[in-house]
Amino acid sequence: MKNKGYFISFEGIDGSGKSTQIQKLAEFLGALDFDIVITREPGGSVGGEEIRNLLLQGNVDRWSAETEILLFTAARRDHLERIILPALKEGKIVICDRFTDSTRMYQGMRGANLRNLVDSLNEKVINFDPDLTIIIDIHPEISLKRAKSRKTVEERFEDFGVDLQMKMRKGFIELAKEFGDRIEVVDGQQSVDKLAQDIGSLVKAKIS
Ligand code: ADP
Ligand code: TYD
Repeated sequence: MKNKGYFISFEGIDGSGKSTQIQKLAEFLGALDFDIVITREPGGSVGGEEIRNLLLQGNVDRWSAETEILLFTAARRDHLERIILPALKEGKIVICDRFTDSTRMYQGMRGANLRNLVDSLNEKVINFDPDLTIIIDIHPEISLKRAKSRKTVEERFEDFGVDLQMKMRKGFIELAKEFGDRIEVVDGQQSVDKLAQDIGSLVKAKIS
């Protein structure tokens, strides 16, 4: 396994605990002697991070959903070419905070046919799935409170509010059924350490 690498993405609504659990998983796998690369979307590469700034700052209506799909996909292509694929080629475990499933949810659920646009563009210019996707499931009232306490300038999507996050939570669970072979759902309302244990066991079982 170490010769071909392994690609793990984390998904879930804003403030669900992805960054926290990614750090924990990296420590766990590092102790098992795996080489780990932690990265994120939008961003991860120099160009991807520049596109991130365009996407995450400013008014909620700064971009249309269609324009966002193009920008997120452009950022992803650069990230894939420059960071993810080279690391996997070197046999590393790549852990990514969000990937294509986020575009399927956040942009794809915003109007009729947008999910089709996400999927067809993905097929043409990305066409690469994680080996494993972990969705952290949590009630939006809890996650929004956590996310808001961070006070960053990147609030464009968090400003969408509880109703939209409720829709996203449901959408992520449906996505887990659609891609049952790839996606695992974990309970984000547990303590950091208990959840880290669950995720660690799950990943260890998959990669060994
Ligand atoms: P995300 O990356 O999904 O937005 P974070 O990992 O940044 O989420 O977590 C959001 C906030 O919630 C942070 O302040 C973090 O310390 C806190 N947090 C994360 N996981 C838990 C947990 N299981 N219980 C309580 N607080 C948590
Ligand atoms: P992230 O930094 O993971 O935010 P958080 O830590 O609050 O979960 O992601 C930033 C925002 O970008 C998040 O609100 C979701 C949004 N996003 C999309 O709308 N589409 C995408 O394809 C991606 C990758 C992220």
